[in-house]
Amino acid sequence: MNTEQNELVKLAAEARGRAVAPFSNFKVGAALLTNDGEVFTGCNIENASYGLTMCAERVAIFKAVSEGKRAFEKIFVVADTEDLTPPCGACRQIIWEFCGDVEIVLTNLHGKIETFQMSELFPKAFDVKFLEK
Ligand code: THU
Repeated sequence: MNTEQNELVKLAAEARGRAVAPFSNFKVGAALLTNDGEVFTGCNIENASYGLTMCAERVAIFKAVSEGKRAFEKIFVVADTEDLTPPCGACRQIIWEFCGDVEIVLTNLHGKIETFQMSELFPKAFDVKFLEK
């Protein structure tokens, strides 16, 4: 792993430590790198009304977008699973909307790491081009 990757894994793991997951006990962290080199992190935040739970990836994206960022390079996702945790379906839609075909780096707490392109994880996406009649 290069230094940048190491740093992003570390930031995602630290964000995971801030997860609010009392219902699932499944903690996730994310780190989103913007095209101008900034990093926005996110963790999952659960609610007693389960459906209101927000995933780590979407927290990171919404934080970045709300700060005016609109161009992204990579997203790191960290969870404590042997089979690396990929973004859920809702997150894939949001990632595609705001980040397009970015690099998605999945990691766990034991240094396992796998990289995908969003287009591999989310083929045949519905997006704005279908709205342009
Ligand atoms: N979760 C994420 O934050 N990101 C993912 O990629 C998968 C799932 C969260 C949502 C919920 O708080 C917990 O993990 C269990 O589904």
